[in-house]
Amino acid sequence: MPKLRKIHIDQAMVGMYVASLDCDWTTHPFWLSRFSIRNAAQIGMLRQEGIQTFYIDIEKGRDIAPVSGPAAPASATGRPQHSAPARATSLSQEFALARDIVQRTEAITQTLMKDARLGQRLDITALRDISSELSGSLDRNALALRMVAQMYSKDAYTFEHSVSVALLLMILQHHQRAPHDIVVEVGLGGLLHDIGKTRIPLPLLNKPGRHTAEERQQMREHVRFSQMILDENGIRSPIIRAIALQHHERYDGTGYPLGLAGDAISVYGQQAAIIDVYDAITSDRCYHKGLPAPVAIKKIFDLGKNHFDPQAVRDVVHCFGIYPPGTLVRLASGKLAVVRRHTDGDLTRPEVIVFFDTLRNQRLKPASVNLAIRYGPHADDHVLRHEEPDAWQAQLPDIQQLLLDSH
Ligand SMILES: [Fe+2]
Ligand SMILES: [Fe+2]
Repeated sequence: MPKLRKIHIDQAMVGMYVASLDCDWTTHPFWLSRFSIRNAAQIGMLRQEGIQTFYIDIEKGRDIAPVSGPAAPASATGRPQHSAPARATSLSQEFALARDIVQRTEAITQTLMKDARLGQRLDITALRDISSELSGSLDRNALALRMVAQMYSKDAYTFEHSVSVALLLMILQHHQRAPHDIVVEVGLGGLLHDIGKTRIPLPLLNKPGRHTAEERQQMREHVRFSQMILDENGIRSPIIRAIALQHHERYDGTGYPLGLAGDAISVYGQQAAIIDVYDAITSDRCYHKGLPAPVAIKKIFDLGKNHFDPQAVRDVVHCFGIYPPGTLVRLASGKLAVVRRHTDGDLTRPEVIVFFDTLRNQRLKPASVNLAIRYGPHADDHVLRHEEPDAWQAQLPDIQQLLLDSH
């Protein structure tokens, strides 16, 4: 008797043996419904065909949850273990869902870090479940999670920084069309990337202001501690390990702990290095206010000349644009607008919602304008620069509502 397990498409991984597709074979092109999943494209095809559940033979192929052992029937959050099938949702629907998932991600990550600080075994299953839910949200409507990530307020706490790094890395990988299981793995990598900080004494970790040279040296130890914690918990995933162990390496070899250079740093390590710095620059700290995203992107671009892989920098800029969703901008025409999404072409021509005319000092009925369209009334308009929301408080509508209403 074959040992079958019914799984959801979100759990599908390369190496599994599909025993039955749990649907009428005449309705889908996988007429050979017993096969090994050899690549991510096959998972994508199953998903495209609307196949949501199927049976795997766990004696002939891989089982679920390779990192953490057998998965629990339900997540630690008490929610179903996996996100809903990837069916497109409206932005406002998905925004509410994404915000809820991110809140639960935050709670789970905070608990995990407390456990790590106490030297307890980490509940990776709960982390994997929530990462899968985040990936599901991206599949349904990626703009929603982008908005949540952009508005995610964070200060110096490691768990908040970790959530933010996870979201940004997942958005990046999803944008690069990575399959679901890679996006999930990258999410886990982001959530765990600074886990070693739980072994840094709290007074040092929470010290306001700058560290001395000696303290900086002590802080650097967090990477070695991360390695120990991953080892202790049997976490062998190359993606998680690359993100945790290489995010302080630098392309020119000036990073730590190993001083790896160039292609010796994996692509996940390169991306994590950029996202880690980007998040630090945009976050509020007790001694400085976070810089706006466009300023952070410019800094990354400048640092990219030595510290980061130029291709990885291009990928990050291509994914997030110069002006991420929700950024307040001034257009060449003198109008104020909020960025809705960035388009694939010219980075200064995103899709925006105009709401104020600074030349006439006049409110406008909010209207969506795609600046990438080079004909019609907005043919010559483009983003001039970002604006500080504080400077336009009286004129500024609720940005979140403006974005949600525009869909
Ligand atoms: Fe770190
Ligand atoms: Fe970090």
